[in-house]
Parts: sequence; structure tokens; C-alpha cells
Amino acid sequence: MVFYFTATGNSLYVAKQFSDTPISIPQIMRGKRRRFSDDTIGIVCPVFAGQPPKMVVKFLEESEFEAEYLYIILTYGHDESDSPEFTAQLAEKYGVFVDYIAAIKMVDNYLPVFDMEEETALEKNVEEQVKIAVQAVAERKRGVPEATKEQRKLHARVAKMNRLAPAFNNGSQIKVKEGCIGCGICAKVCPVGNFYVENGQAKRKQKTCEFCLACVQNCPQKAIGLRMADKNPKARYRNEHISLQEIIAANELQEEGEHERI
Ligand SMILES: Cc1cc2nc3c(=O)[nH]c(=O)nc-3n(C[C@H](O)[C@H](O)[C@H](O)COP(=O)(O)O)c2cc1C
Ligand code: SF4
Ligand code: SF4
Repeated sequence: MVFYFTATGNSLYVAKQFSDTPISIPQIMRGKRRRFSDDTIGIVCPVFAGQPPKMVVKFLEESEFEAEYLYIILTYGHDESDSPEFTAQLAEKYGVFVDYIAAIKMVDNYLPVFDMEEETALEKNVEEQVKIAVQAVAERKRGVPEATKEQRKLHARVAKMNRLAPAFNNGSQIKVKEGCIGCGICAKVCPVGNFYVENGQAKRKQKTCEFCLACVQNCPQKAIGLRMADKNPKARYRNEHISLQEIIAANELQEEGEHERI
């Protein structure tokens, strides 16, 4: 059993290397099922500001896992900081004991700081990192990498910045610009259902936002931007192995009762 959260496909791509049928955390969180039992359970998600996305934290908090071996794979872009150690401690707080954690460096999709054209041109040896993690899980390797003081400090600095500038975390940065054709893709890729289309134009509800950037990155018209900082508004990203349909299947609100069957 492998669970995943994804906005631009990195974590889904990695999850697919561990299971042919990974399970979407946003879909699970819309249903009632919170008890999971299997020999091996894996969770794959991105690092947001040094820690897992809010929804993944809630998933850990609310779920009960019965497994002989439980592992977490984090995907990140430039600096994992203390995210493996932090995530293991956070999980433990909710009674989830993690046997193994690895972090995989991939394209950094954080648009306020990174230009997606430059990012996709960088060689990060993703395949090699994935191979090592898959092998480690197959061998049931144990261990959580201990963070350095500098890594912990970096995480604390980023957390403080987020407290001082909550706009970077609560979605008020996100804005529909000119060029929207009302296709509704933003509504389908948002894991919390923050968008709807009215009179051919996308509108954002004021729901708690994960600031995952799925809406911004997957808009085919590049018609969603960020108010204060958007490194290159002309460049957007989705993992080269993952289709838009897969992001939609991961995050779109299902018909009533559909998620209960997952
Ligand atoms: C809001 C936000 C915060 C992020 N914070 C970090 C971070 O602290 N360190 C890092 O290396 N990458 C960070 N990233 C980059 C993502 O972790 C990385 O691109 C990840 O692989 C995206 O996964 P996905 O394609 O499955 O959504 C951040 C991305 C977003 C959107
Ligand atoms: S995805 Fe883009 S073009 Fe389509 S409705 Fe949303 S904002 Fe408009
Ligand atoms: S509104 Fe955009 S950034 Fe916020 S949760 Fe939805 S897709 Fe992610």
C-alpha cells in the first residue's frame, strides 16, 4: 500500500516506482477510511517549507497504520533541510512509527523562487536516487537521517518567514489573470477544491489552501499567477512522466460516495 500527495507529479512519479496502484491522499481524506493494514506501507509526498503538506500531516494525525514496515519518501527541490527527521518526529507524535525515510531531489516547483525553465535544465540524477530508495525499501532498510544543526536552523527560519508572511501559505497570493478560457482544469487539479468556473472564468473560493501550486502549474493558459513573486510567469512545470489526467485523478473531487470505494 503506497499513499501519495502531488501537485506537479514528482511525488506521484516516485510513488509509481513503489506501486502500480498508489493511493491519493486527497481522495482518502474525503472519505471516512482511516485504518490501513498491510505488510508494507509507504507514503510519498513533497517537502513544503521543510515539512510535509498540511493535508499529509492531517492524514498522519487521523490515520491508524498496521504494518510490519512503514516508510516515507519525501521529494524536494533544493534543500530538504531537516525534513526527514522532522517528519519522523511529527509522525511519532501521532503514533505512527516510521522505519525508513529517504528524500529525493527533483525539480523544485516553488515558483516564487525558481524559474521552471532553469529548473528543468538541471541534472539531479533522479533515477539513481529512486533506484537507491526502491532497493532500500525492498531490503527493508531502517533508519531516519539525523539532521545537522544548520538544517534545523534553516527549517526554523523558513517557518518563521511563513508566520510573518502568511500570504505565501494561505493562497491569497494566487490570482487568475487575463487569458482564462474557463476550461476548469484548475478546479480539477486542486486537492482542496478551491476553484470553480462561473461565466467562463475561473474563480477562487477562500478555502484553506495547501499552497501546492497545482492550479498555477497546470493551467494550460498560464492564466494563474502569484501576486508578489513569480520568477518566470511564462514557465510552468509538470513531471515529464506524469499526465495531466493523472494529476486530475489524484486531486479532483469525486462524485458523492466515489472515494468510499478507494
Ligand atoms: C509551497 C512549497 C514549498 C516548498 N518548499 C520546499 C523546501 O522547503 N525545500 C525544497 O527543497 N523544496 C521545496 N519545494 C519544492 C517541492 O518540494 C518539490 O518540487 C516537490 O518535488 C514537488 O512535488 P510534487 O510534484 O509531487 O508536487 C516547495 C514547493 C512548494 C510548492
Ligand atoms: S485552468 Fe486556467 S484557463 Fe482553465 S479555467 Fe482555470 S484559470 Fe482558466
Ligand atoms: S488553490 Fe492552488 S495552491 Fe491552493 S490548494 Fe488549490 S491547487 Fe493548491
